[in-house]
Amino acid sequence: MPDLRDSAFLKAARGEPVPHTPVWFMRQAGRSLPEYLRIREGVGMLDSCMNPELVVEITLQPVRRYGVDAAIFFSDIVLPLKAVGVDLDIVPGVGPVVAKPVRTLADVDAIPELTPEQVPFITEAVSGLVAELGATPLIGFAGAPFTVASYLVEGGPSKEHAKTKAMMFGAPDVWDALMRKIADMSATYLEVQVAAGASAVQLFDSWAGALTPADYREHVMPHSARVLERAGALGVPRIHFGVGTSNLLGLMGEAGADVVGVDWRTPLANAIPLVGDRGVQGNLDPTLVFAPADVMTARAAEVIEAGRAAKGHIFNLGHGVIPSTDPDQLKRLTEFVQSYSVDA
Ligand code: CP3
Repeated sequence: MPDLRDSAFLKAARGEPVPHTPVWFMRQAGRSLPEYLRIREGVGMLDSCMNPELVVEITLQPVRRYGVDAAIFFSDIVLPLKAVGVDLDIVPGVGPVVAKPVRTLADVDAIPELTPEQVPFITEAVSGLVAELGATPLIGFAGAPFTVASYLVEGGPSKEHAKTKAMMFGAPDVWDALMRKIADMSATYLEVQVAAGASAVQLFDSWAGALTPADYREHVMPHSARVLERAGALGVPRIHFGVGTSNLLGLMGEAGADVVGVDWRTPLANAIPLVGDRGVQGNLDPTLVFAPADVMTARAAEVIEAGRAAKGHIFNLGHGVIPSTDPDQLKRLTEFVQSYSVDA
């Protein structure tokens, strides 16, 4: 059986030469797949995440269909909070909703620490997946402290993150305690996934683009760095992703990433000099899958060509797959990337 370490995905993540540019998609599992909609019928999102059999099947669905170079563990960034008993739900079409938003130091202290014993279903799902995936690497993931804090403080999705940033600016002690708590939780969540066999990790700081570089550096980066440091000690490549982060790419690399995820707004040619001696992941505009196939693949070729200047390049969309995406287009895109870039 081929060695996982020789997979194109892990080679690119380590900055080694690759047989073809590896490709996977954020949110490759999920509502764009009819087989996902069928299997999720009548089962809540968080219940699905805590059911190893479902997690294995849902994670494998896009791997089977597209032949992508990596699987992403099916879970959610708020799952660790749920596991320690925070009262929250993932509302379809909305996102995570927290019953009692966190505002005070007492609220922070009331959130228990995460221990591996609280997530045996994660260990079971990851071990089962790794056995099924064979030569395809599994990416574990966690939410970065800022993005998870935003859900906890706002109580749900937010455009401005105003309450979150008000805490950051106005109550530094509460902020620091909250960020430390989430950082520990996310790091433990990653450790559990890697211990069970995940061969890379991605830290999602989806909403970090709401911050200026100075505020990111002072109030957020040290906490993300703690998560990435603990992940680094596990010896697996670390991908660090956010949306709208053209001003933050250098800092997100410095926080301790091996690969920096770039959203579609920033051309890779601009991103690559900013991330230093690191790889990049991205970054086709997710709406290009709605364009004619030749338009989509021409733009994908531009992304691949730009990626050649990086230490390593993992092809992806610039954010998650949009639920109305036609799976046949993603299949075409996967095949295009894998064949276009042979012997890159
Ligand atoms: O394929 C994958 O990427 C695998 C799993 C995954 C999910 N969520 C599954 C999911 C991952 C990596 C996440 C991370 C996540 N969750 C992030 C960071 C990534 C990003 O998109 O920026 C964020 C911000 C969340 C919070 C969250 N959870 C949102 C905003 C939503 C969407 C709400 C909606 O219905 O529009 C969720 C729910 C969620 N997480 C779904 C999936 C497949 C949809 C659930 C469903 O099918 O009803």
